[in-house]
Amino acid sequence: MLSGKNILLGITGGIAAYKTTFLVRLLIKAGASVKVVLTESASSFVSPLTLTTLSKNAVVMDFVKNEDNEISWNNHVKLGLWADLFIIAPATANTLSKMANGVCDNLLLATYLSAKCPVYFAPAMDLDMYKHSSTKATFDKLTSFGNVMIPAESGELASGLVGEGRMAEPENIISFIEQHLIKGSPLCNKTVLITAGPTHEAIDPVRYIGNKSTGTMGFELAKKAAELGAKVFLISGPTNLELNNNQITIVPVVSAKQMYKAVHEYFSDVDIAISAAAVADYTPKNVSEQKIKKQEAEPMQLELERTQDILLSMGNAKTNQFLVGFALETQNVFDNAKKKLVKKNLDLIVANTLEDKGAGFGTSTNKITLLDKNLNEKTFDLKPKSEVASDIWSAIITKLDA
Ligand code: CTP
Repeated sequence: MLSGKNILLGITGGIAAYKTTFLVRLLIKAGASVKVVLTESASSFVSPLTLTTLSKNAVVMDFVKNEDNEISWNNHVKLGLWADLFIIAPATANTLSKMANGVCDNLLLATYLSAKCPVYFAPAMDLDMYKHSSTKATFDKLTSFGNVMIPAESGELASGLVGEGRMAEPENIISFIEQHLIKGSPLCNKTVLITAGPTHEAIDPVRYIGNKSTGTMGFELAKKAAELGAKVFLISGPTNLELNNNQITIVPVVSAKQMYKAVHEYFSDVDIAISAAAVADYTPKNVSEQKIKKQEAEPMQLELERTQDILLSMGNAKTNQFLVGFALETQNVFDNAKKKLVKKNLDLIVANTLEDKGAGFGTSTNKITLLDKNLNEKTFDLKPKSEVASDIWSAIITKLDA
């Protein structure tokens, strides 16, 4: 959920600030880009140099910066707009109260007022401060602004008292945010099956029939689905692509037969299935156990038989699943796509044609037309496949909500 996100970490002056070094490391490990804004008192608890080194970005603290006798300013507006998420941890009673009342007497607070992204705050204070009615009123006010509170945990406090008020542990802050992002996502609680890549149909132990599919479109669809909160089963033919996302389970297969079997292990339990794989339509009837030796004179004959149409089998087995197929055509795109939509019992078909330069497979871009079962069609511009995946998911989500 955090991979590729720009995360701004605001650190205020509490003893828990020392734990933010671990928080920064975990955010970086999760694939996020991290920038840190510190209050002056936070710098007594955690070194700006440590945070600069861990976050790989210079930590900012003051409005004015003086580098080599050149005076400039740290742009809080730019910083606020850069952030996809703003986490304030530890958040002291003092800073929280200022945030609730629009006080803006340091760079962190100015950035808070400028940021348009979701804001999470992890309070850290002593037991009685945490329970104080004034602090509770601050929490309520901040949550009424849409800020999200990551509740403090119980335990031994710096004062020696034991109780609520400890900043949530860094790993709990991360899982809280991930869970929160998933819950607010349009595909939360949805399970998705995606087929991707080519299939390889063996001729003998060293040769196969394959195609130029790289799997990019299917992998981009899987990444986007996970970003939107879904649990994904990605059934992929042989590709060089890698994905490391704990919401995506990759099921590697080689042949059309294996893909068919894997699909039907999951299909009955999914909400949405997308068939983006370039499945071979034919496979050698007999696979030679030994490497086939060339003949000097006669031409080589290879007898092929039909593979199962995996998407058609999903269309036949469909109960409540929203089913999406692709149609790669070289001519009569819409007529052929319509025929496939009806024949395979689809809810939506993604048509692309090799007549469009940069479309189809083996490329990093695609140009698609979406056709739904009421035969409404919408054509998109040529775009990177990551953006095409977003367009496809937007269309699916709109139809699911309708
Ligand atoms: N498909 C499939 N299993 C097959 C062949 C195709 O699941 N054995 C799926 C593809 O993943 C795609 C859709 O069917 O979503 C259409 O594939 P395409 O190759 O465009 O068409 P075919 O149905 O194979 O028809 P043709 O090759 O004759 O155009």
